[in-house]
Amino acid sequence: MIKLSPSILAADFTRLGESCAAALNAGADMLHIDVMDGSFVPNISLGVPVLAALSARLPAFYDVHLMIRHPLQYVAPFCEAGASLLTFHLEAESDPWRTIRAIHAAGRKAGLSIRPGTPPEAVFPYLNELELVLVMSVEPGFGGQKFLPQAVEKIAVIRAEADRRGLALQIEVDGGVNLSTAPLCKNAGADILVAGSAVFHAPHPAEAIAALRCACGAAPSAH
Ligand code: DX5
Ligand code: ZN
Repeated sequence: MIKLSPSILAADFTRLGESCAAALNAGADMLHIDVMDGSFVPNISLGVPVLAALSARLPAFYDVHLMIRHPLQYVAPFCEAGASLLTFHLEAESDPWRTIRAIHAAGRKAGLSIRPGTPPEAVFPYLNELELVLVMSVEPGFGGQKFLPQAVEKIAVIRAEADRRGLALQIEVDGGVNLSTAPLCKNAGADILVAGSAVFHAPHPAEAIAALRCACGAAPSAH
């Protein structure tokens, strides 16, 4: 079944804990934490202290998306703060091999992300070492943008290569995921959908989560 990772970037930051708890109670599989440094992307969001505060109070799978330069430097603090999965960008300056090794040495899952302009084949050298590839379907930096349809083909290319190698790789897609774009991603081979606005800006986040699952062909659950 498709997994949903609501992006807390779209949540009400004055009630962050409650909003995250509500998303989890509504059946979210994990929480997507968008970390932006104002340099790799032209926006600044949140960082280690916010993740540490959330993970201390709210047991969950923390899906941490680093949109920062020099991610290797920040692997240890984010892992200590409670990241379950740490995803960094191929386009960031750190050496991908060393960064993946550092994440694994901290006992966490490693993800590699690519911006819309990076071809899917760029992740191929690293596939055997990764738990996840994150395909960006918007330019990273802001929530609420329009889904770029080229992401669908990129998901399919990476899924085909992972299947050819017999890998249990998970593919996640992030940006502009809503009721119409979610099924396209699922059908192309995505396992995890990130959704910010579609969940937290909906009048009823619980219903939005259920509707996204339903759009991807899952039977409605008790949630
Ligand atoms: C964009 C972030 C996304 C974003 C998704 O840089 O990585 O996770 O918050 O937000 P929506 O779902 O609103 O496009
Ligand atoms: Zn993200």
